[in-house]
Amino acid sequence: MSTGQRQGDNAQGPVHVAIIMDGNGRWAKMRNLPRQEGHRRGLEALRRTVRNADELGIKVLTLYSFSTENWRRPQAEVSFLMGLLRRFVEKDLEELHGSGVRVRIIGGRDDLTPDLRGLVEHAETVTRGNTGMTLVVAFNYGARDEIARAARGLAADVAAGRIAAATIDEAMLSSRLDTHDLPDPELVIRTSGETRISNFLLWQAAYAEFVFTPVLWPDFDRAALEEALAEYRRRERRFGGLAEPADRKVGAA
Ligand code: IPE
Ligand code: IPE
Ligand code: MG
Repeated sequence: MSTGQRQGDNAQGPVHVAIIMDGNGRWAKMRNLPRQEGHRRGLEALRRTVRNADELGIKVLTLYSFSTENWRRPQAEVSFLMGLLRRFVEKDLEELHGSGVRVRIIGGRDDLTPDLRGLVEHAETVTRGNTGMTLVVAFNYGARDEIARAARGLAADVAAGRIAAATIDEAMLSSRLDTHDLPDPELVIRTSGETRISNFLLWQAAYAEFVFTPVLWPDFDRAALEEALAEYRRRERRFGGLAEPADRKVGAA
């Protein structure tokens, strides 16, 4: 979905903040703790961030929790991360629902166990009518996988004669992505000092502002979130146009 924003509109925003929660393992390593402890503390940071984002008026918060590439990790770590998602949905759903949070899960569902898939669907169904913040959990998410699934759906519709190939445009592809009902993120934050996108929201973040912070995810707190928002508000967004109306006239002459 296009935001239709123009330069200067970010004084108030962002509406949608997406976070690549990175650095749990390094946080644990620095303390001679097992990686799992880093993930456990990472879940606490996640809970804290959901509360803070809601209080700070963010309307959509997307959290990258498990990528399509994270299956490459040792089996024990993968199982642990699956267990954390399960516990999060089981334990936190009631509270999230009570606060009016709408939960959405993006990512491929076919690789999840039936019980996990059931939990995820349950969380979405229960909170569907909520009008508070939307919490988007990107789980088994990879942007390339998401785009490939959307393309497969479109190709099937063309093959069945339901749509004409010539009518496929950006809006139609957007409407087939897992994020079809969400605005694009204006701000993407990555913690832990890494400065890469790691297959996150490649389509949706086309014009997002990126903020990279050295803070490790388990240490991410309200001050770190506020600093990222302040950094976003200092940025000038141009969307391919020119900054000043006067400059635009030069081009038109
Ligand atoms: C982020 O922390 C959590 C997930 C990717 C699931 P990492 O586990 O990637 O932590 P580092 O990068 O090894 O420090
Ligand atoms: C990105 O972190 C994925 C998530 C935060 C879920 P990774 O730690 O998996 O990314 P790379 O491997 O450093 O790019
Ligand atoms: Mg990492």
